[in-house]
Amino acid sequence: MAQGTARPIAPANGKLGVLCVGLGAVASTFIAGVENVRRGRAQATGSLTQLATIRLGKRTDKRSPLIKDFVPLAKLEDLVFGAWDPVPDDCYQSCLHCGVLDKHEHVEPIADFLKTIKPMPAAFDQHYVKRLQGTNVKTGTKRQQAEALRKDIRDFKAKHGCDRLVMVWCASTEIFIAPGATHQSLEAFEKAMDANDPSIAPSMLYAWASVMEGVPFANGAPNLSCDFPALEELAKKKKVAIGGKDFKTGQTMLKTVLSPMFKARMLGVSGWYSTNILGNRDGEVLDDPESFKTKEESKLGVLEHILQPELYPNLYGKLYHKVRINYYPPRGDNKEGWDNIDIFGWLGYPMQIKVDFLCRDSILAAPLVLDLALFFDLAQRAGMPGVQEWLSFYFKSPQTAPGLYPEHDLFIQQTKLKNTLRYLMGEEQITHLGVEYYEYDKE
Ligand SMILES: NC(=O)c1ccc[n+]([C@@H]2O[C@H](COP(=O)([O-])OP(=O)(O)OC[C@H]3O[C@@H](n4cnc5c(N)ncnc54)[C@H](O)[C@@H]3O)[C@@H](O)[C@H]2O)c1
Repeated sequence: MAQGTARPIAPANGKLGVLCVGLGAVASTFIAGVENVRRGRAQATGSLTQLATIRLGKRTDKRSPLIKDFVPLAKLEDLVFGAWDPVPDDCYQSCLHCGVLDKHEHVEPIADFLKTIKPMPAAFDQHYVKRLQGTNVKTGTKRQQAEALRKDIRDFKAKHGCDRLVMVWCASTEIFIAPGATHQSLEAFEKAMDANDPSIAPSMLYAWASVMEGVPFANGAPNLSCDFPALEELAKKKKVAIGGKDFKTGQTMLKTVLSPMFKARMLGVSGWYSTNILGNRDGEVLDDPESFKTKEESKLGVLEHILQPELYPNLYGKLYHKVRINYYPPRGDNKEGWDNIDIFGWLGYPMQIKVDFLCRDSILAAPLVLDLALFFDLAQRAGMPGVQEWLSFYFKSPQTAPGLYPEHDLFIQQTKLKNTLRYLMGEEQITHLGVEYYEYDKE
């Protein structure tokens, strides 16, 4: 039984269009994955919206429905997919090119479907992604490209008879841009867009177009995109959900599980050296120092926030944290994320931990795209516009309201996510206090 008042949530009727910016490894693995699941050929492993349960009420109540039965989410059957990419390959060709999924098991059996997803011309500029060249691109000024994106959105919605849309940035990491004067207000941003100002990157044009069309925007890369006051102002004005940044998948996910453990046990950390080798297009793009800097900023922040050296200077004040990404073509999408952690314990005695995560980048990221699409759509229908901090579970560098520091600990983020779902449905928050099971004061 619900304990409080549920928020009014519009039903998830009709089709939900999922617009991916970029149709590379992550996006194609996501789309092909959903279709394989829909055809009963695979399980949606890694997706909370499809597999996870949520505990409601007391432990003795034994109520743990599936999340998808508890909150009104769009069904996989109701998803339709669109994308933009400067590379003209359709989703079938992209799957084969990226080589993430087994050709015979997961690509050829759904080839008919994948070939129907052809990328729309991208708002692309090589200045922002040095290692890429694109032929399938829009022309004109930044304003004209942004308006063309708005038209694409409207045309897609009409063509596919969608009830609602959601946009997820799955495109390459752009060069590092620090928020400046042009990002501080909507007026300054739009003026800069009209003036073709270099501080307005393509990802910002997508975010702007998305919000202008009332479409929630989630950012899976570390680019600023919608993480600055002007876009937050627009999202508030248009009552649209936005959020990011940077899918939390491999090494950073491990970091945000291990570092809270050190802090919880008051173990010191003197060094954390993280290196990655990967050989996909993402790795090639990140081989450019300017794109790497954007990624580095996103990866470095987590330890500082979790370990709080200002509160524990003797444990974490001298931590040396280094992150490297090396492009190494033989590995393709199968990244190796290697961590050496120097910790110290009782009386300062040193110890080491080595983690070698032989992961598959896009296999880890694809279910996040699905969950983000479904949860952003839920937030929009539940009348929760603006920054979606409750979905920080999915991001390396979570966007927050101004003045708030982000929560990085994966399990605090999970609690935040599940408590938000309970809040939406008028269920009691779970505090894990548990004194009610012991009745200390009753004799
Ligand atoms: N585990 C993960 O895979 C993971 C984790 C965190 C973040 N990311 C980020 O997700 C993004 C996608 O990763 P990927 O492995 O699919 O990379 P990818 O290189 O395979 O795909 C990116 C695609 O985006 C396209 N693109 C570039 N600029 C564009 C633009 N302006 N408009 C439209 N398309 C554009 C590229 O042509 C490419 O096809 C990257 O930014 C990556 O850093 C991935």
